[in-house]
Amino acid sequence: MCGIVGYIGNQQAAPILLDGLSKLEYRGYDSAGMAIYNGETIEMVKSRGRLKVLNELTHAGETLPGMLGIGHTRWATHGSPSDINAHPHFNKAKNIAVVHNGIIENYLKLKKKLEKKGYEFVSETDTEVIAHLLDYYYDGNPLQAVTKIMHRMEGSYALGIIFQDHPEELYAVRKDSPLIVGHTDGGSILASDVPAVLKYTRNVYFIENEEIVRMTADSMEFFTVDEEPVEKESTWIEWDVNAAEKGGYEHFMLKEMYEQPKAIADTFSPRIKDGRIVIEELGMSEEEIRDIQKIMIVACGSASHVGYSGKYILEGLARIPVEVDMASEFRYRNPILDEHTLVIVVSQSGETADTLAALRESKKRGARVLGIVNVVGSSIAREADNVMYTWAGPEIAVATTKAYSAQLISMYLLAMKFAQVKGRLSEEETASMLEDLKALPAQVEMLLNNKENIQKFANRYLAAKDVFFIGRGIDHAISMEGSLKLKEISYIHSEAYAAGELKHGTISLVEEGTLVAAVLTQKELYKKMISNMEEVRTRGAFVMAVTCEGNTEVERAADYVIYIPETNPYFANSLAIIPLQLFAYYIAVGRGCDVDKPRNLAKSVTVE
Ligand code: F6R
Repeated sequence: MCGIVGYIGNQQAAPILLDGLSKLEYRGYDSAGMAIYNGETIEMVKSRGRLKVLNELTHAGETLPGMLGIGHTRWATHGSPSDINAHPHFNKAKNIAVVHNGIIENYLKLKKKLEKKGYEFVSETDTEVIAHLLDYYYDGNPLQAVTKIMHRMEGSYALGIIFQDHPEELYAVRKDSPLIVGHTDGGSILASDVPAVLKYTRNVYFIENEEIVRMTADSMEFFTVDEEPVEKESTWIEWDVNAAEKGGYEHFMLKEMYEQPKAIADTFSPRIKDGRIVIEELGMSEEEIRDIQKIMIVACGSASHVGYSGKYILEGLARIPVEVDMASEFRYRNPILDEHTLVIVVSQSGETADTLAALRESKKRGARVLGIVNVVGSSIAREADNVMYTWAGPEIAVATTKAYSAQLISMYLLAMKFAQVKGRLSEEETASMLEDLKALPAQVEMLLNNKENIQKFANRYLAAKDVFFIGRGIDHAISMEGSLKLKEISYIHSEAYAAGELKHGTISLVEEGTLVAAVLTQKELYKKMISNMEEVRTRGAFVMAVTCEGNTEVERAADYVIYIPETNPYFANSLAIIPLQLFAYYIAVGRGCDVDKPRNLAKSVTVE
């Protein structure tokens, strides 16, 4: 995920672009750049590092004079964060400049074709393909060149484009990445998100998929991909400037919860091709997959909870034995692993010191290491033998939500892939699972929209002292994550227990009014779980249940029930975790906690 901005008008562009980028830094901050038309040529400054580096390099924009320009803040996807990979990108003649938010999925194919036609690439990005493709189709008519490249590109994009020989015009186009435009006093502006333009206009046009905009200082025209003009209504934005910095959400955590449908879809979509699971970055032949005798999943915190879910799914589907280890313990217990062991390290930041150390230890002992990582170019991504990225985008709230959800999707894909290779998943089973996988984003969205009810319920428990989360099988893994979410942001003590284990000691802590959250998503375990719920309820507990639609029997053992839609039992975690995240969030909000930056915690734990 990246942020783009653009300006054309009667003021200096660079300071406006820098200001806009500062509101989009939450979308990525590993590099930034601007291209400005100075009256003769397009000048560009870009650099690895945060926006302040660009600010310093350009003396707050002073060294880049001109009234037409585009800018970018990057969250690396293709190509590590570096000066050369930073946007904007140029064609060879340096008379077309582009900034891009999104991923061009067929960029390798396009790149090969362009290379055959003599185009030379200087960066590792997918975006550079766009600049050369525009060059290839450009014959003096910018609109035509834009529509032509749209027919060739697959994936998602929001683009800002300037053509040196059309210095009175700024072009923008989008498909599956956000883009808004608006008139300023004496100019026109484009951006990935409203906060970047609020200072200049509150009247914005939301660009729809496959719409193109041609802006001048005092006009704005919209076109379809067939160059047909489009009439558009603008929208008046009421948000106050500060609230809008989080995209209008009160906290980054809430915003990121709402980004889960997209994170899930972005993580599975590029890996499903013609009804098959294709994980090119796995780098393993079918023979090598069949040769795996043991999988070890090593991670910390929430990422390790993904591992516990992964154990059930990988063992259940692919019948490969799986061990899950907390990274901080792994290398001190002399783990048994060899070249037939696949070690999967899971990490959002890709920088967690214990996970990185476990990765190194595993490699030293001869195992193959696969990283499931969110931050491109991070240490774990660089050092793992292979890396499967989760496409969750930058996560700012310390408590993970969308990265966790994307990690789960990676586990599902891996388990299905391994099961397919081992001949354990028929085509019909695969098709049905893929259907359920594709339904997840909409189902997650539906669960998120139930937030008011969960908030009302959470408000009753603001003074809770102890909360227990119970579940069996995968539901135990979900309980661990639900419990961690609650304790880390609300500071209420909570524990997750395998439901059957509770009566071996911990049940003595249950007293009148203790809240017990029970998770029941696995049909074959419903009856056993209901018995465990009754055990705590008869001892005074108040029982909140999260279960699948149709399991109304649970109501006899629960005081409050949240239903999740039907899905493949292996995917239930992706749905059941949503109400638990919302519950933790609203408890923390109600208690006045610093939701995004809980005390004592940091987003990336780079010490042991
Ligand atoms: C909890 C949380 C942490 C991280 C853990 C690992 O909400 O975010 O438990 O999951 O610190 O971090 P990464 O995934 O960056 O290795």
